Amino acid sequence: MYQDKGSLKLYKFSIAQKSIILRACELNLKLDNKNEFDLMSLLTILEYPDSRLRTVARNVDRVTTSVSNFVEDLLETMYAAPGIGLAATQVNVHKRIIVIDVSAEHNEPLVFINPTIEVLGGMQTSEEGCLSVPGFFEQVERSEKISVKAWDKTGTPFELKAEGLLAVCIQHECDHLEGKLFVDYLSGLKRNRIRHRIQKRRRT
Ligand code: NI
Repeated sequence: MYQDKGSLKLYKFSIAQKSIILRACELNLKLDNKNEFDLMSLLTILEYPDSRLRTVARNVDRVTTSVSNFVEDLLETMYAAPGIGLAATQVNVHKRIIVIDVSAEHNEPLVFINPTIEVLGGMQTSEEGCLSVPGFFEQVERSEKISVKAWDKTGTPFELKAEGLLAVCIQHECDHLEGKLFVDYLSGLKRNRIRHRIQKRRRT
């Protein structure tokens, strides 16, 4: 998920250049270390209306080394995009795994494996975007307060209560695991317009 347009702009103008330089330095560092595999760990994000985004993800049985490595790649891909949330479904891995970081400094990664949401109440409307629907932002209504149960990156169960942006982000990413996108909450007219624009953009 993208941050709302306002914050994204702010992010673009104030931090983006610095983080691009930082990332370039990291990449150089990795190249110097001849660790080419780190360079290849950025995963390809599927774009709407790719039908694979409609796949329902399966539960993770246990956190193996390959699951841990995948979580690191997912985080790296989210930060590089840049985004504040990413679901495994979006990189064509159909396991119930999402990563989120809504912190101002982008240094508080949250990992949810096999997340389940309980709605605690209230409704909120906010502008959402999605790395799989690049460049489009629309108002979506979601639950205001939720509780989420999941495993962390080590497989340890935890429960977290969330509201505001974090609650929106968790709901948005969990939707991906069910094959659902934020555009599904829009009118058919708006959704079709977005789909046509993305397809047109891809052709040119
Ligand atoms: Ni998304």
